[in-house]
Amino acid sequence: MRVYVLNGVNLGRLGTRQVDVYGATGYADLVALCERTGADLGLEVTVRQTDAEHELIGWLHDAADEGAAVVLNPAAWSHYSIAVRDACAMLRGPLVEVHISNIHAREEFRHHSVVSAVATGVICGLGLDGYRLALHHLATLSG
Ligand code: DQA
Repeated sequence: MRVYVLNGVNLGRLGTRQVDVYGATGYADLVALCERTGADLGLEVTVRQTDAEHELIGWLHDAADEGAAVVLNPAAWSHYSIAVRDACAMLRGPLVEVHISNIHAREEFRHHSVVSAVATGVICGLGLDGYRLALHHLATLSG
């Protein structure tokens, strides 16, 4: 199964960004974790991050065209980007939305994700382990 692990705005700063909320593990380590997990599970995993909304939308279009599965942390776009949600709604494969922090235990403006209603499922608050769990779930779907 082809899986895109897509990370939105500011997630390239993991490891230095609000370490009390997101932890001290850097973005490169997240990439390695996802690639290693994918290889162990027999998934074809590609991990990407962007601070440009149009770039994320382009990657979602590609995933839709390929019928690929997506693990997506839309970061701040979760809370207001109808454009990202609309691109997610075009996906034909499963979509697992991941948040490192528990968005429901934080500021009120983070409680709602416009993406969640078009996601297959949502994992939040489990740190980087959420990505690993999302990949394990997708592997169960591919039999
Ligand atoms: C986040 C939560 C969002 O509210 C925030 O804007 C992020 C990261 C998370 O992974 O916990 O950038 O999606």
